[in-house]
Amino acid sequence: MDHAHQVYRSRRDALIGAMRRKSGGGVALVPTAPEVARNRDSLYPYRHDSYLYYLSGFPEPEAVVALVASKDGDRHVLFCRERSEEREIWDGFRYGPEAAREVFGFDEAHPIAELASRLPDLASDREALYTPLGLFADWDRTTVATLNAVRERARTGVSAPAEVVDVRSILDRMRLVKDAHEIALIRRACAISVGAHRRAMESAGPGKHEYEVEAELMHEFLVHGAQAVAYSSIVASGPNACVLHYRDNNRQMQPGDLLLIDAGCEYQGYASDITRTFPVDGAFTGPQRAVYELVLAAQLACIDALKPGVPFHDYHAVAEKVLAQGFIDLGLVAGSLDAVLEQGTYKRFYMHRAGHWLGMDVHDAGPYREEGESVRLAPGMVLTVEPGAYIRPADDVPERFWNVGVRIEDDVLVTTGGVENLTGAAPKSVADVEEVCRARTRRAA
Ligand code: GLY
Ligand code: MN
Ligand code: MN
Repeated sequence: MDHAHQVYRSRRDALIGAMRRKSGGGVALVPTAPEVARNRDSLYPYRHDSYLYYLSGFPEPEAVVALVASKDGDRHVLFCRERSEEREIWDGFRYGPEAAREVFGFDEAHPIAELASRLPDLASDREALYTPLGLFADWDRTTVATLNAVRERARTGVSAPAEVVDVRSILDRMRLVKDAHEIALIRRACAISVGAHRRAMESAGPGKHEYEVEAELMHEFLVHGAQAVAYSSIVASGPNACVLHYRDNNRQMQPGDLLLIDAGCEYQGYASDITRTFPVDGAFTGPQRAVYELVLAAQLACIDALKPGVPFHDYHAVAEKVLAQGFIDLGLVAGSLDAVLEQGTYKRFYMHRAGHWLGMDVHDAGPYREEGESVRLAPGMVLTVEPGAYIRPADDVPERFWNVGVRIEDDVLVTTGGVENLTGAAPKSVADVEEVCRARTRRAA
């Protein structure tokens, strides 16, 4: 077991400790994600389940982590596919139980084919069963079948777990605060995505299609060793910038368009999530610039408001306040700031939250409220800061603002003194954005 895998073992130990404190002991069963068909016999690229990966670093499909906390001691057990010369010729390398046990630091490993026959033993005479409930339909059936198999042994004196607990209640809290290993991977994902946004800014231009820019992003992700996008890239020009989850990426860019790009890679299981908005021909128009500077002011005010001890929900209010005042000043909404906030009329132009936790999942696990209170920020938490403004054409909206859509999104790490912006190197000020875009225009000339 190398150093990296020691990290996973200590996470498993932490889960076992939490099970002991909560239930006096028990068994945790955590499956990975199923393979998913795309069409006919083609599969989507495989993506492991984040919970299983958090506990094991094990990347293959058809795997289950089983952890026992009992009076006789702890057991770390892995189920995985057996080696197979035939299957490996077609599909590639598999660890097989023997090597996987050694490499990933488990006490035991067994073929996944033995899962059904071994689970009842693992779950017998345990205080509690910790497993994800309702995550994968097949696994739900396995969970029920396991419990019933244990109950059938009642007459032999065996007892079934008295409680079934969703293991995510513990793992989500653990995943909320990132350890050094996770932070290093998120940092790398962010650095790659920063480069991709810069490349996109340098390559976009009137006459090009959105998908050409998407291809530049993808090139930069893959060439730097990222395995995938963390979510479908949004490359939204002109009116498409006002479609929050725009995915077609097939419009030809026109002079005078803004281009909103929301894209981030996944690096070794960790996401990044960046949005930048820029003028495709190198210079903001007056109204575009006014909206851009407003969103930027909101974003900077949000980042300023983040530090340990601050409730997660506070910066959402900061974004709302700055944007609402800006919309009033631009003549987009009418009324006093208090009235606009109270009545929510600003939501016509800003209708999402200011950000979310970021980690293995782009909208990462982790509670936002605990015991009715907003979770307070603490060092090691990672979150996005992403206010925006989206102005669709309408009779009561000044025409100069029509189709202006702007979002600016960074990923920040909470530190002891405040936050560190992990994606701040992606050009963001009006001057920096125009400089990168103009350098492209100069090259093209
Ligand atoms: N890209 C997804 C989000 O910004 O939340
Ligand atoms: Mn995003
Ligand atoms: Mn986001």
